[in-house]
Amino acid sequence: MSSQDIPEENLPAAQETTLDKVTGADEKHPFADPGLPPHEHRIQDIDERAAKRSERTVALLFTVSMLATIGFIASFVAFPADKSIYVFPIGHISALNFSLGLTLGVALFAIGAGAVHWARTLMSDVEVADERHPIEASPEVKSKVLDDFRQGAKESALGRRKLIRNTMLGALTLVPLSGVVLLRDLGPLPETKLRHTAWRRGKLLVNMNTNQPMRPSDVAVGSLTFAKPEGLEEHDEEFQNEIAKAALMLVRLQPDDIKDKKELEWSHEGIVAYSKICTHVGCPISLYEQQTHHVLCPCHQSTFDLSDGARVIFGPAGHALPQLRIGVNADGYLEALGDFEEPVGPAFWERG
Ligand code: FES
Repeated sequence: MSSQDIPEENLPAAQETTLDKVTGADEKHPFADPGLPPHEHRIQDIDERAAKRSERTVALLFTVSMLATIGFIASFVAFPADKSIYVFPIGHISALNFSLGLTLGVALFAIGAGAVHWARTLMSDVEVADERHPIEASPEVKSKVLDDFRQGAKESALGRRKLIRNTMLGALTLVPLSGVVLLRDLGPLPETKLRHTAWRRGKLLVNMNTNQPMRPSDVAVGSLTFAKPEGLEEHDEEFQNEIAKAALMLVRLQPDDIKDKKELEWSHEGIVAYSKICTHVGCPISLYEQQTHHVLCPCHQSTFDLSDGARVIFGPAGHALPQLRIGVNADGYLEALGDFEEPVGPAFWERG
């Protein structure tokens, strides 16, 4: 049905716009403005039942979007990552990827389609001219923009068409949830795993090179000796994860050279045990300077003073190396007297 078939009295009142004015050519404007063709009213403007139908269509599209978003979340929970399905003509593909892509695509498409249908059938179709102005925003322009905004809000009938407004808000609220559930793919939270190592009270110190438990006499003056906890073997599945936290270096000092009281208490006959993992970004420390008792991280040259609680004396590391309290068991082997008392490695973990 076109507006020509509608009785004149049923048509909405004509709205005059600047484009309706046909202007002729003059000196400033050499071409005459032909104006706009006669305005054709949409069926929704003149038939309330058609407007209601459009309203229901828009609401249906927003509802489809909500259902698709719920389907997205349900797929994420329901399908294991290794399940595949046959989809013609693609062939075998991951059921999880297929369902996530399909449901998210439908959710976004339905929001877009609903918004377009709403704009095309129910929002005001009055044609307006946006005349050009200087670029700077004068107070008048600002106030005009605000007026236009209020007018747009009024003409979109958001307040009157509550069904559309509510379903649209529901669809727009649910869509971001798709991104939230994907955060689960970042993996399980580390919880306290990074705060503890394989060291426990009574665990023997095992030489990393010989794989043998160590006696105090095995730690020579002037060199670094590396140790791991008893029971941690290279063929263990978790070896790399555990040694990355538990790697230990031992140095023998003269007890008189140890300035830090706690360090002295936690040592045995001048043997001090420190985490080998640099507190900057976690490189293994490997250089020792016997005269000064400094150890150096080769990555960014952080330097720690082992005679003074392994405090940082140079470089970007944020704090001292954690010390492991050690002693000797009844058989004369070096043993740990507990775990590290603070997280090993980069200072980041201290802030958690
Ligand atoms: S990792 Fe050791 S100084 Fe950067």
